Amino acid sequence: MSELNKIALNIISNGKGILAADESTGTMTKRLEAVNVKSNEENRLNFRKTLFTSESMKKCIGGVILYDETIKQTYENKTIPELINESGALPGIKVDTGAKSLAGSPDEKITEGLDGLRERLKKYYKLGARFTKWRGVYTISDKFPSKLSVHSNAHALGRYAALVQECEMVPIVEPEVLMEGKHSAKVCYEKTSEVIKKCFEELILNKVDLTGVILKPNMILDGINSKNKVNSEQIAELTLKCLKESVPQEVPGIAFLSGGQSEIEATENLNLINKTNSSKFIMTYSYGRALQQGALKHWSKDIKDSSGTQKVFNNRANLCSLAAQGKWSRDLEI
Ligand code: 13P
Repeated sequence: MSELNKIALNIISNGKGILAADESTGTMTKRLEAVNVKSNEENRLNFRKTLFTSESMKKCIGGVILYDETIKQTYENKTIPELINESGALPGIKVDTGAKSLAGSPDEKITEGLDGLRERLKKYYKLGARFTKWRGVYTISDKFPSKLSVHSNAHALGRYAALVQECEMVPIVEPEVLMEGKHSAKVCYEKTSEVIKKCFEELILNKVDLTGVILKPNMILDGINSKNKVNSEQIAELTLKCLKESVPQEVPGIAFLSGGQSEIEATENLNLINKTNSSKFIMTYSYGRALQQGALKHWSKDIKDSSGTQKVFNNRANLCSLAAQGKWSRDLEI
């Protein structure tokens, strides 16, 4: 077993998943302002350290993805990576610098951040990071994703993953096919399959050790504006079919993004995926909104109420962990 494979398994095994707390300052500001909290450095840290010191971290969270600001912050004389390590989880870091308009197809996005990445990775490793994240985004329409967007984003993910492994960290490879649009789940399945296959083609070309990678995909869903909605059973079936056909066997695990699903939807769908998972891949969560939404809402009403906020977070993290083992049921939702 390679060291990278050990790290990857450590993060996602035994009903553990990933807390994606790597919102850029711009995104975090949107999230905080939506609940009428001022977005300043202190408040961003206050909310995040409340989550990182929760009881459920020990049992449910194997890794936390941080943003550049947070990995450099301290709380009670401990660095945030030290705080996360204390709970038994590993600190990770988002290393892309965001999705920008793609020259040649300006209505699509290409993720930037390769320039100077090797040097930044070395610094993040020294700060305690043991895994990283890079997100490529794809929209679906009658023309999109274009071949150019599928190719360019996969190319960037391949180069990113190779650089990260060179620095002895596990790359989370996140190709996100967005749920915006009127498309059917069948189209989402086709486009997601194309995108994931292309990513692995590039990872292999870049000699990435696939046993030391975690894939972070979207689930197969209807577009948000689609008239016909598939049910959770069909979501699980299409998602599993797509991943079995597109992901090389060596990959140890898959940690889904929630992508705008509600907390309960994301939990229920993950549970069904695990109940019917006949592949050897571990299937777990790497949720941002679907782990934080309720906790953020509670916290925003009284930002001094850490224990109440932690209760809400612990409940959601426990339910997600049950779903990662196929042991969740609707009557556990209060
Ligand atoms: P969501 O679960 O809110 O989609 O966030 C996950 C993530 O890390 C997006 O890059």
